[in-house]
Amino acid sequence: MSDLVTYTSDGELAVITINNPPVNALSPAVPEGIAASIERANADPSINGIVLIGGGRTFIAGADIKEFGKVVAGEKEEGSLLPLLLALEDSAKPVVAALHGSAFGGGLEIAMACHYRVADKGAQVGQPEVKLGIIPGAAGTQRLPRLAGVEKAVEMCVSGAPVKAAEALAAGIVDQLITGDLLAGALAFLREKIAAGATPPKTRERHDKLGDEATNAAIFAAAREKAKKTARGLHAPFAAIDAVEAATKLPFDEGCQRERELFRQCLFSDQAKALMHVFFAEREVAKIPGLSPEAKPVAIQQAAIIGAGTMGGGIAMNFANAGVPVLLKETTQEALDRGLATITKNYANTVKKGRLGEEAMQQRLALITPTLSYDGFENADVIIEAVFENMALKKDIFTELDNRAKAGALLASNTSSLNLDEIAATTSRPASVIGLHFFSPANVMRLLEIVRGKATSDETIVSAFALAKLMKKVGVLVGNCHGFVGNRMFFQYMREAYFLVEEGAAVEAVDKALTNFGMAMGLLAVDDMAGIDVGVKVRQENAKNEPAGRRQPLVADKLYALGRYGQKTGAGWYKYDENRRAIPDAEVAALIEQTATEAGIQRREISAEEIVERCVYALINEGAKILEEGFALRAGDIDIVYLNGYGFAAWRGGPMWYADTVGVKNVYDRVCEFHAEHGAWWEPAPLLKRLAETGGTFAAWDKAKTE
Ligand SMILES: NC(=O)c1ccc[n+]([C@@H]2O[C@H](COP(=O)([O-])OP(=O)(O)OC[C@H]3O[C@@H](n4cnc5c(N)ncnc54)[C@H](O)[C@@H]3O)[C@@H](O)[C@H]2O)c1
Repeated sequence: MSDLVTYTSDGELAVITINNPPVNALSPAVPEGIAASIERANADPSINGIVLIGGGRTFIAGADIKEFGKVVAGEKEEGSLLPLLLALEDSAKPVVAALHGSAFGGGLEIAMACHYRVADKGAQVGQPEVKLGIIPGAAGTQRLPRLAGVEKAVEMCVSGAPVKAAEALAAGIVDQLITGDLLAGALAFLREKIAAGATPPKTRERHDKLGDEATNAAIFAAAREKAKKTARGLHAPFAAIDAVEAATKLPFDEGCQRERELFRQCLFSDQAKALMHVFFAEREVAKIPGLSPEAKPVAIQQAAIIGAGTMGGGIAMNFANAGVPVLLKETTQEALDRGLATITKNYANTVKKGRLGEEAMQQRLALITPTLSYDGFENADVIIEAVFENMALKKDIFTELDNRAKAGALLASNTSSLNLDEIAATTSRPASVIGLHFFSPANVMRLLEIVRGKATSDETIVSAFALAKLMKKVGVLVGNCHGFVGNRMFFQYMREAYFLVEEGAAVEAVDKALTNFGMAMGLLAVDDMAGIDVGVKVRQENAKNEPAGRRQPLVADKLYALGRYGQKTGAGWYKYDENRRAIPDAEVAALIEQTATEAGIQRREISAEEIVERCVYALINEGAKILEEGFALRAGDIDIVYLNGYGFAAWRGGPMWYADTVGVKNVYDRVCEFHAEHGAWWEPAPLLKRLAETGGTFAAWDKAKTE
C-alpha cells in the first residue's frame, strides 16, 4: 500500500487517511492507495463501514496540476478517477467522506462518490477547474447536480468559487456538520447510519434533484447569458454548463462520457495551457535565484508612510487591512485630513457593499495614525515614501529617514520613474533601500513591483516579498530601469494606440479590438481614466532619455492643450456622460483627421488584427529587451506583471506566453515588417530575433535559466 494513504481501523470501522502534504493533492499514488484500501475493507469481514479522511490541514485540495501539464505536453497518458469513484460508490460497506480544509476539484468528486459526507464547520467544497480553463473531469458535473440541484451545480462549476460548509449542508452536498473532533464525529455518524440499517445511497442513482426540462432550460439560458458578460472570451465556463446540462438529459454513464469529451477539449486548449502557465508563474515569481538562504525577512509590526495622497492613502489601507499599525505623515493638517477622508470614504464604500463590517472598518481606521512629524518613525520596521515625484524632495526625505529609522528597517520608495540608486545613495544604508512600486488604487491592485537597487541586500528583498504576501499582493522583482517592467512596456504599448488612431483607426475601434482580444479595457479608455495630462507629462519626461528624431504622437498633446484630460474633465479621447460612460466623440475624430492630414500621415483602413498586433507585439518586443537586459528575471514574471497590473487577460497567459502561443518567429517577422514600415521604435529585440531564428520560446528560455 502506498505511503500516501494509510489504513487503520477503529473497531468495526476502517479509517482511510490521505497523507500527501501540503494539500493532499491527487498525485498518482493517492487514488491507487484509496482503491486498495476500499478493497481491503470490503474483503475484511470484521469491518462494516469506512471513513475517508485527509491527514494534516485538509481533505483533498484537488488534482496535482503538474500532472495535467504532463498530459497536455504528451509526456503522460491521461488518467481517470472514474474507476475509483465507481469502486467507492459500489462499495458494499458504506463510505463516509470526512471533510476539513478544502475538498476541491477531484477532492469533491471523490467525496461525492462516497455514500455520505460530513464536514468540519471550517471546510469548503468547490469545483474550481474553470480557473485553470478546464471543467471537472471525473463526474463532478454529473454528481454535483444530483446532490445540490441543477442551479447550484451550474453556479459552482461556472464560477469555480468555493462554498462554505454551512452552505454545502443547506445545498445537500454535505449531510452533517461536525463540531469537535472530525474523525470521532464521522465515526459516530457512520455507526448511527449502520445501526439504522440504512442502505448506502449512490449519488449516481439519484434523480430527485435533476429538475424538469422547462426549469432547467431557463437555468442554462440564464447561466450562458451571464457567462457571456462575466467570463468574456473564456470557453471553460460554457463547457461546464454544457456538461451539467448533459447530466439532466443523459443517463449517468453517457453524461460522464459527454463530460469527458468537453473536459478533453478544454484540457488541450490554448486557454487551459495559458491558465496553467499563470498558475505556475505565480508560484515561481517569489523564487529569486542566488539569494542567500540565510536572508530572513524582518518582522513587520509597525509601519510608516510619508505622503497621504493617492498612493500613500491606499498603501496605509493595505497595512491596516493586514492588522499592522501604520503612521501616516503629511506636511499640512489639510493634506492629512484630505488623505484620511479618502481612506474613510473607501472603507465606507466597502461597508456599504456588505464586504466589510462597521466594526472591522473602525478597527482598521484605528490602526492608521495620522501625523505631521517623524515622531515614532524610529519604531517602524518598514517605511514607505509616497510623496510627489520629485528627486530633490525624495532625497531630503531619505536623508531624514537615514537619521531616524532603526537599523534593519526597510526604507522604500514608491517612485514610478526616478532612479532608485540615486535615492539610496543619499543614505548611509543603501542595502536597506528598495523600490515598492504599488499600482493605483494601491488598496485594490494586486501587483507590487519590487525594485532592486544595485546595493539592495538579500534581507531587504526577502522582507519586501514578505510584505507583499502580508498585503495579499503578488510581488515581482524588477530591476532599476526607467519605468521598471510594467510602465517601460506600457510606454511602447500606448504609443502604438496613439499612432494607430493617427493612421486611420477610430478611437473606439482601437479599444474594441483590444477588449475583444481580452484586455480589461481599451488603451484609449485607460488613457482617459489615468489622465491625458499625466500621460503627456510622462512622455515629456521620457523624451529626455529617448534618441532624437523618432516619430512622436501628436493628438494626445492637442487633447491636453484643449483641457480634455479624460474622465476627470468629462472629456478626453471620448466624452463622458454623468455616469462616466464613454461616448465616441465626432470632434475628436475630426481633430485626429485634421492633425494627421497636416502632418502628412497617410490615413487608411486598419484591421482589428493589425491593431492587436501593433499593440501587443510592442509589449512583447520591449519585454524581450527587458528580459535580456536582466531587468526581469523570467518571461513568466513579465506575464504576472501584465496580468495583475495592466488588465491583460489571464487566459492569454500574459504577453510573453502569448508570443509563444502565436510562435515567436511569427511575432518576430511582424516586428520586422513594422520596423521597416514605422521605423526605429520597432527595432527588434535581439532576444526575440535569436529565439525566432533558433525555434526557441520564452517558456524554454525561462526553463533553461532556472535549471
Ligand atoms: N498615482 C499613481 O498612479 C502612482 C502609481 C505608482 C506610483 N506613484 C508614485 O507614488 C508617489 C506618490 O504619488 P501620488 O499619486 O500618491 O501623489 P499625490 O500628489 O497624490 O500625493 C503626494 C502626497 O505627498 C505629500 N507630501 C509631499 N511632501 C511631503 C513630505 N515632505 N512629507 C509628507 N508628505 C509629503 C503631499 O502633500 C501629497 O499629499 C510618486 O512618487 C508617484 O510617482 C504614483
